Amino acid sequence: MIIHKPVLLKEVLDFIPNSPKLIIDGTLGHGGHSLEMLKKLNPDGALIGLDIDGKILEKAQKIIAASLDTSPSTLHLVHDSYANITKILSWKKADYILLDIWVNLEHFKDGSRGFSIKKNADLDMRFDQNAKQSAYNIIADYRLPELANIFMTYGDFTEKKAKELAEAIIRERNKHLIKTTYDLKKILNECWLGDKACAVIFQCVRIETNQEIQNLKVFLGQLPEALSQGGRCAIISYHSIEDRLVKTYFKQLEETKEFHILTPKTVQPHYTEIEKNKAARSAKLRVIERT
Ligand SMILES: C[S@@+](CC[C@H](N)C(=O)[O-])C[C@H]1O[C@@H](n2cnc3c(N)ncnc32)[C@H](O)[C@@H]1O
Repeated sequence: MIIHKPVLLKEVLDFIPNSPKLIIDGTLGHGGHSLEMLKKLNPDGALIGLDIDGKILEKAQKIIAASLDTSPSTLHLVHDSYANITKILSWKKADYILLDIWVNLEHFKDGSRGFSIKKNADLDMRFDQNAKQSAYNIIADYRLPELANIFMTYGDFTEKKAKELAEAIIRERNKHLIKTTYDLKKILNECWLGDKACAVIFQCVRIETNQEIQNLKVFLGQLPEALSQGGRCAIISYHSIEDRLVKTYFKQLEETKEFHILTPKTVQPHYTEIEKNKAARSAKLRVIERT
């Protein structure tokens, strides 16, 4: 069974405030962080684990059930997006919120979901199986400037290269449907993109498919309402756009004097962690506290 290793686990646990009554794991994944965070809860506390991916959530349920002797009444798993945090919390406030915003290792290893350039599958890439927009729709419907824009913004491609790639995609889709990961990869290869650059294009399409940047923005906008006094929010990001967004927003919150940044510099994994888990190599943790 593929299990996603929790990144920066010790650091995430160290930032938990004393005896929290409500912890939100906004990106439950396989529950690696949640299983350990549960141990830090106040005896009357609760942990809510969210994941937008129903399949991942089902697997998390099994992993958690196998790891705990009893199913604790303190743990609630919810199929929802962290972008809906205040709705999920209703009138309650969280003492600790964790976001670990990346894909799950399983998304790449499960070849059937279209995330990996190494496996042929339908161009899907949706975290949420109920979402209307898939990678296929983006490749089939986006106009040239929209396609070029996602390659430039999320993949740092030059305007010239981004337009060339968008033009190649549009030329091909006018001849036949671009239905699979290998269909898309073939077009990219013909534009002289190797595996590494193809993976970056796949990442751009995935970010757009799942509206990842938009979801983070919406979540950040709700933080003042979601956190209790003394409550903290820890965000692990892996993409420079996301890290920049978190940094800027945390700074704005600190300027209100109601928040204090606990990580003046990002916390990054020790090389010994990266040796054991390559997926951790670009992780950056930032934490803010409501004073
Ligand atoms: C890096 S994994 C989390 C791994 C987890 N911390 C662990 O230790 O197992 C990120 C998870 O966030 C989920 N996810 C992505 N976008 C989401 C969103 N908007 N709301 C909730 N979950 C989301 C993905 O499905 C994925 O399972």
